[in-house]
Amino acid sequence: MALTRPDRIAGFEERAYGLFLHWGLYAQLGRGEWILHNDDDITPEEYETLTESFTAADWDGREIARFARESGMGYAVLTARHHDGFSLYDTRGLSDYDAPHAAAGRDLVEDFVEGCRAEGIEPFLYHTTLDWHWGSDTCDQSSFEEYITYLHDSLEIVLEHYDIGGIWFDGDWSRDDVDWHLDDRYELVREYRPEAIVVNNTGIGNEGEISHPEIDSVTFEQSEPEPLDRSGADQYVAAEMCQTMNGHWGIGADDYAYKSPGDIIETLATCRGRGANYLLNIGPTAEGALPAYEQAAIRRAGDWIDDVGQSIYEGRPVECSCQGRDFVLETDDGLFYLAFDLSISGHENVTVTTGGSGPRSIAGLDRDISGARWLDSGEELTVFQAASESITTIDCTGFPYGSDTVVRVAELQ
Ligand code: GLC
Repeated sequence: MALTRPDRIAGFEERAYGLFLHWGLYAQLGRGEWILHNDDDITPEEYETLTESFTAADWDGREIARFARESGMGYAVLTARHHDGFSLYDTRGLSDYDAPHAAAGRDLVEDFVEGCRAEGIEPFLYHTTLDWHWGSDTCDQSSFEEYITYLHDSLEIVLEHYDIGGIWFDGDWSRDDVDWHLDDRYELVREYRPEAIVVNNTGIGNEGEISHPEIDSVTFEQSEPEPLDRSGADQYVAAEMCQTMNGHWGIGADDYAYKSPGDIIETLATCRGRGANYLLNIGPTAEGALPAYEQAAIRRAGDWIDDVGQSIYEGRPVECSCQGRDFVLETDDGLFYLAFDLSISGHENVTVTTGGSGPRSIAGLDRDISGARWLDSGEELTVFQAASESITTIDCTGFPYGSDTVVRVAELQ
């Protein structure tokens, strides 16, 4: 029997943290995935010749999936086709503009999906609905109907042939003067993949919008997820925040503005505190390798996940009011306090940190708490509860000299 909608959404939420991969012909130019559109000096004909040098020599789905698993991620989303219209999958005769017809000569999506399955990473495919190659953004209404046929034929191939856990659409925001035939699109998904998570990116400026009843998760592109107000909604939806490691999705070879392991830890924690998943992007190299900095930073953040474990995957936000950026998560058998901006305790001649340590209060936490201890060190913390005002105070000691894990997690007893 197929998973029910609440079960599949709960399963997605527990996967918590995912790897987004933006990869395609554009990786060879190293200036992001919009380069065809943004650089007037590149003609579509020139761009198409990139297929001849797209070898995918370093593309190894299993290795990528292992990296994701070892970094604490639960799923991965690959751009099977991006706005340039080039498919990393075998379009099976529908078009020549795909990886088997390029220098790669093989189905790169199949390699990815099989690699993910072998490593226990849930494979998702991103599929564009905006197609510059086809001209979906500039064609007239009647040609747009032909485009929809092409898009749905493409999706049918993807849905039928790859064992995916989710499908991630992007591009409907490119036109609001046409009928996207969304009911037909989602019907197709449900016919082939009744258990797949369906996401449709509403884009920058429309974060958190529920665009259709078949949507399983709303998106927060490059922003901070807001706690969703689900009170008036017909059914529960998950939330996911996607973010770049620097300022580009497809590799930006001259972009040095990287996020650090500390940034990743803070953002992942913040997403979980607001009940959202965190989908963090890497743009692989021209040949399909994961660049060294991104790997190192994400692995380092993964060490933190190892320490805090289930609280991050299974924790659901608890309604209460904490100081600063702190919050409380609850799992089936535990309650966790996540503390931000703690200082390092050390000698004043050597230690300079911002933040602080000492008592922090939680208002409105409707539980009896008798004690607390840091998950990383096991140190017991002093807790006071003033029942009359429903205030719980935890004496948050700072990081011992020699450590700073950015966000510290205490288990409450
Ligand atoms: C935007 C961009 C796109 C990127 C996506 C990821 O919609 O058009 O290039 O794939 O965001 O969220």
